[in-house]
Amino acid sequence: MVKILVVDDEYSIRKSIDMFMSEKGHDVYTASTIEAALNRFNELCPEVVILDIRLPDGSGLDALSQMHRIYPLTKIIMITAFQDMETTIEAMKKGAYDYIHKPLDADELEKTVNDAIASFYEDTKTAGKSESRISYSENEIVGKSRAMKEIYKLIGMLCQNRATTLITGETGTGKELVARRIHLSGPYCHQPFVTFDCSAVVDTLLESELFGHEKGAFTGAVSSRPGKIELAGDGTLFLDEVEALPLNLQGKLLGFLERKQYMRVGGKNSLKSRCRIIAATNKDLAKMVREKTFRDDLYYRLKVVTMTIPSLRQRSSDIDDLAAHFTQKTANELGIKQMTLQDGCLERLKRHPWTGNVRELENIIVSASIRSRGSVIFLDAIEDLLSHHPVSIEEHSSSQSLSQMESVHIFKTLESVRWNKTRAAKILEISLPTLRKKIQKYQLAPPE
Ligand SMILES: Nc1ncnc2c1ncn2[C@@H]1O[C@H](COP(=O)(O)OP(=O)(O)OP(=O)(O)O)[C@@H](O)[C@H]1O
Ligand SMILES: [Mg+2]
Repeated sequence: MVKILVVDDEYSIRKSIDMFMSEKGHDVYTASTIEAALNRFNELCPEVVILDIRLPDGSGLDALSQMHRIYPLTKIIMITAFQDMETTIEAMKKGAYDYIHKPLDADELEKTVNDAIASFYEDTKTAGKSESRISYSENEIVGKSRAMKEIYKLIGMLCQNRATTLITGETGTGKELVARRIHLSGPYCHQPFVTFDCSAVVDTLLESELFGHEKGAFTGAVSSRPGKIELAGDGTLFLDEVEALPLNLQGKLLGFLERKQYMRVGGKNSLKSRCRIIAATNKDLAKMVREKTFRDDLYYRLKVVTMTIPSLRQRSSDIDDLAAHFTQKTANELGIKQMTLQDGCLERLKRHPWTGNVRELENIIVSASIRSRGSVIFLDAIEDLLSHHPVSIEEHSSSQSLSQMESVHIFKTLESVRWNKTRAAKILEISLPTLRKKIQKYQLAPPE
């Protein structure tokens, strides 16, 4: 379904477009101010926006520019009144797809929206084609679930701009893989992709690691050295586990993001950078902001665009493809021509809660294939590993958030009663409606 965002301060216009377009089978969302529109835009990443030029909190032209910067592929149709002709021309120059007149004409509206949708898909296809220039075998992202299709769409849009992006998601969901793909699919793919692990190095070395240092800046600095920012050049700097950045460095990183300028430790000249920033975290940064362990201004700077990679529990239909992918990969590495999973393995894999997500699945397949020592991976080997695997909720609970534990626990309970919700609710000692709400919240579904 195509997502259409309608932005107009007049209720009757919002309502009529909403009704008309919903009837045509589209997913319609509305907003009456620029602020609300930008929020909606960010979270929805719609294919089409219908945008009024005069809005209570500013000009639709500014909203147009901002939206264009975030997802250049989105088709933006302006709503204009006769006296807005000058502004309309301005809007077309700024990249609006087309405009429609007030008072609205149903045929004109329908035709313009249909053209915009067709043009959107045409563009995403070409964006996809340019990707094939590079070989992706190493960075292949597997999965055809709806949730992953949304991710691909976002990658297609994000790779064309340089907006600072925050990728969130549980451990092992593929955040780094996605960050690499955004980089590799964009025009700067031949520039470096540099990872800075905010949790890896000793506090005192982090700053020089990131910004570089001059000779003699501190004991041990026998020669000057460029930092990761410098090494990234015009490419991408990937800030992994950004939540682990100490507060003093958070301030310095913020300064850099605001000015795109920085100084090496012990340096006197400020240096410029044009790299794109992608940050990743498996923690709840909003909560850390509330607890004052993460700076709010930095948080907002980082999440110009956010992208949340769904957990494997939320897309168990991807397990088939992922298992096949990892089986093939392992076979290649072990020099075995073909390797297959014994009957029943997939069903068993789908009943596991995957707290370690895709990484855990990959590890299980590799370990099971080594145990099975041949071209067939045995169900016994999988069963054995899954029931004794170290990445289980019991052992790893300390690194998990409460909601993650809750979602895993509910998933396991539902599995144990074959998704009989009434029985699961009894075991969990919650009401059926509460269980339903939680299933919805965590997007849990029985394996297909
Ligand atoms: N959709 C996918 N298709 C194929 N491989 C995947 C997919 N998602 C993740 N992987 C693989 O799973 C492993 C973990 O992925 P990655 O390192 O990107 O996770 P992460 O989200 O950064 O985890 P963490 O939060 O623990 O750092 C990698 O080997 C990656 O290649
Ligand atoms: Mg990672």
